[in-house]
Amino acid sequence: MASYAFRLNGRSVSADSWDPAQPLLYVLRNTFSLHGVKFGCGLGQCGACTVMMDGTAVRSCQTRVDRAAGHAITTIEGLGAPASPNRLQSAFIAEQAAQCGYCTNGMIMTAAAFLSQTPKPTEDQIKQSLVGNLCRCGTHTRILRAVVRASRA
Ligand code: FES
Ligand code: FES
Repeated sequence: MASYAFRLNGRSVSADSWDPAQPLLYVLRNTFSLHGVKFGCGLGQCGACTVMMDGTAVRSCQTRVDRAAGHAITTIEGLGAPASPNRLQSAFIAEQAAQCGYCTNGMIMTAAAFLSQTPKPTEDQIKQSLVGNLCRCGTHTRILRAVVRASRA
């Protein structure tokens, strides 16, 4: 078994795995009990499993654990907590931008990476940034409002 060391929400951690190709998604949920990140399609097509690697949004279902080694991984738990939400989490609450909430992790993590690179986006830029994240509940209008609100906070 190999051990993979990386930074996780600001802490140094290591994960043991028999399989270097094990998806980072499984490691985050099963080894570290970080359940904000979701398994949606498992094929890189829905965005529910999005986390940040060195500040860039990545699909953790398609990211091998050995690729994460040596990098800084941020999950939605690393952005803020219920008592101290970050601006995106606060905006999603203020706009009630979820129905089932299954896509919410991916929407927020994708938006967090996008806003860190584009601090003053237009609405069209925000729409484009989220085009690869699916919401089967049709909450897109509220999600867009939430990201706009966060971008102006
Ligand atoms: S679960 Fe990873 S993109 Fe759908
Ligand atoms: S709120 Fe249900 S999938 Fe988006």
